[in-house]
Amino acid sequence: RIVYVNGEYLPEEEAKISVFDRGFIFADGIYEVSAVLGGKLVDCEAHLARLERSCGEINLPLPWSRAELVAIHEEMIKRNALDEGGVYLQVTRGAADRDFPFPKDIKPTLVLFTQARNYVNAPTVKTGIKVVTFPDLRWERRDIKSVGLLGQVLAKQFAAEQGANDAWLVEDGVVTEGASATAWIVKGKTLISRPLSNKVLPGITRKAVLAFLAETDFTFEERTFTLEEALDAEEAFITSATAFVMPVTSLDGHTIHNGAPGPTTLRLREIYVDFAR
Ligand code: PDD
Repeated sequence: RIVYVNGEYLPEEEAKISVFDRGFIFADGIYEVSAVLGGKLVDCEAHLARLERSCGEINLPLPWSRAELVAIHEEMIKRNALDEGGVYLQVTRGAADRDFPFPKDIKPTLVLFTQARNYVNAPTVKTGIKVVTFPDLRWERRDIKSVGLLGQVLAKQFAAEQGANDAWLVEDGVVTEGASATAWIVKGKTLISRPLSNKVLPGITRKAVLAFLAETDFTFEERTFTLEEALDAEEAFITSATAFVMPVTSLDGHTIHNGAPGPTTLRLREIYVDFAR
């Protein structure tokens, strides 16, 4: 693989980051993951807008224009001959002697790499995914796409140990979101997902789904939902840049929609894939 590090495109074995990089030492950095389909970026502008917002919230200057960042993404797709998969971007405050406050005259570190994956024909589309719940241990600014992901790592490790595909995070009996996705439940023609706040990441895929809802006969109820309600839902699904719209067919061992992906979820997935192509 060819990776990007601070202006250079290098074989991954040759790429180097300082031991003192604040991304490594403090998780003082921001990331984004964008999908690529047919060699083209999906919803790239929206991901870059969120990147700018996340960086702004932690006062991390982003000395690359949006056009420059798009060009770097496209060059990475080209150099890695990526047809389908993801592009990961990470920007950190940079390297300096370890000290908590922002160092003066520090230059941010920018890294990109690609991952070839089958997103459209992922095997879990046919079966749906098994989800288990885990306490939401994260900090109070989950709206910032920070590289500090220990809460998510522990949740997903727990899920893997349970033989599940993913975790939903629960706080005070309420589902906040998936460990790396927005959580949704379906009741009749109504889609339910929680309002945006500091408690969740504002999903780009969530936004895309809401934008095309007007073309469907589904309605959106923006509110929190409890785990109890989710266990009783007609359908459940997650959305993310890499999962698209993915059916959840098991939640904490309870079968959802007879254990098969539901029609509403599959319809939304179909529309999303059309949009993404
Ligand atoms: N995760 N919530 C969390 C906590 C996430 O990490 C993600 C994305 C989402 C969905 O956001 P979007 O629709 O913009 O991908 C919600 C990425 C895919 C990841 O960490 O790999």
